Amino acid sequence: MGIHTGTPHLAEEGYVGQDVNKGARIAAAGHGGQVLLSRETRDLAGIDVLDLGEHRLKDFAEPVWIFQLGKERFPPLKTISNTNLPRPASSFVGRDNEIEEVAALLREGARLLTLTGPGGSGKTRLAIETAAALVPEFKAGVFWVGLAPLRDPALVTETIAQTLGAKNGLAEHIGERELLLVLDNLEQVVEAAAALASLAETCPNLKLLVTSRELLRVRGEVEYPVLPLAETEAVELFCARGRTEPDESVHKLCGALDNLPLAVELAAARTGVLSPKQILERLSGRLDLLKGGRDADPRQRTLRATIEWSYELLSSQERQLYARLAVFPGGCTLESAEEVAEADLDTLQSLVDKSLLRYTQQRFWMLETIREYAVERLDESGQSEELRCRHAEHFRALAEEAEPDLLRNRESYLERLEAEHDNLRAALDQLAASGEEQLDLELAAALWQFWYARGHY
Ligand SMILES: Nc1ncnc2c1ncn2[C@@H]1O[C@H](COP(=O)(O)OP(=O)(O)OP(=O)(O)O)[C@@H](O)[C@H]1O
Ligand SMILES: [Mg+2]
Repeated sequence: MGIHTGTPHLAEEGYVGQDVNKGARIAAAGHGGQVLLSRETRDLAGIDVLDLGEHRLKDFAEPVWIFQLGKERFPPLKTISNTNLPRPASSFVGRDNEIEEVAALLREGARLLTLTGPGGSGKTRLAIETAAALVPEFKAGVFWVGLAPLRDPALVTETIAQTLGAKNGLAEHIGERELLLVLDNLEQVVEAAAALASLAETCPNLKLLVTSRELLRVRGEVEYPVLPLAETEAVELFCARGRTEPDESVHKLCGALDNLPLAVELAAARTGVLSPKQILERLSGRLDLLKGGRDADPRQRTLRATIEWSYELLSSQERQLYARLAVFPGGCTLESAEEVAEADLDTLQSLVDKSLLRYTQQRFWMLETIREYAVERLDESGQSEELRCRHAEHFRALAEEAEPDLLRNRESYLERLEAEHDNLRAALDQLAASGEEQLDLELAAALWQFWYARGHY
């Protein structure tokens, strides 16, 4: 049962209006035997209730605070969700202690906790798994903000505001809410760190869990270095991804790869044609050459060598497509890949099989370290400029196609443009950089409706 207090409107079909809807949505969020109240009702009734925190309800832009009558325990509410954490498609291995430690630091008062480590060490994955475990402890929810495609530090707070649906000032919106924000890949917009530190100072119940290859070096920051997996965990990861049984070669191979999760995944993606022993033979010469370098972190070299090895094993067609897909900073749909990068399904599939490309929620995308290598290959290919122009044109056409529908406020186009936001931004930059001022203005004009509707101003 759900109870809300507000003003209904009487129409021919009966009582209607926002408040009637809200009551219905709150009722629908509960389980059999559970009585839920809105904040308005709780305030009026002045009774002892259990605070279930803020939740997102269908058709309501702002989160709604929900309370429960009585202390009985029920499963989580059937609301849309109070988290947008991505759900990784692959299994998670080990890291029990790390999750405990990171969660404990946040519980014990760390307001800005940075997971540091080189590319591919598992920072993002550890942040996601820890944050997922903390969802019930943050009444206003746990939100993930991916910053990898951003290059302009000024866009960091804007991107957070957009994720939270904050229209009038981020600090005002967060206020005293108990909120956990996971800010992923802050390293290339690290100048935004000072603004984040003051946000945490202004909002007393906000906690920030950041992943970054380097420390932010701001007031109040607590560092948690993400170390390689334990060897048994790396072996388990290799066997899970490569669908194989552990043996001595697998142990040796994982050791040679510094037990670095991404390197282990890339190597495991080759077990279809090579045995672990063969992979070890082919890779170790290359890795040995690198040992003794003076890198700040030798894991960086290990990963680079593994990505290179993986790339060199590709067919020329796969190499070409891999490099071309680097043109999409925000990942892409199958249609965009076909149109901009002349992709074909088989080659896309084999890049996914080799762990160089990911496919989730009907989009193809790359892990950051892997995309960085692809960008280098694209620049080297001499096709970069052409691809960037084609990319810009493709997204300009999409925005133009969406414009008439946006004026009629069609949700489907809004969502489509939202998913392409990083690509649209890159298209704007490209058109400006190549002196296409007219087209750039046209794209901006086609998009203003979208920005307005989604509060990107
Ligand atoms: N404990 C784990 N169990 C299973 N998979 C893992 C684990 N840790 C990391 N991975 C996988 O290894 C890969 C690299 O990890 P992740 O993306 O978290 O690295 P990262 O440190 O965030 O890298 P970057 O600095 O490039 O963002 C991902 O595919 C991730 O899913
Ligand atoms: Mg990451």
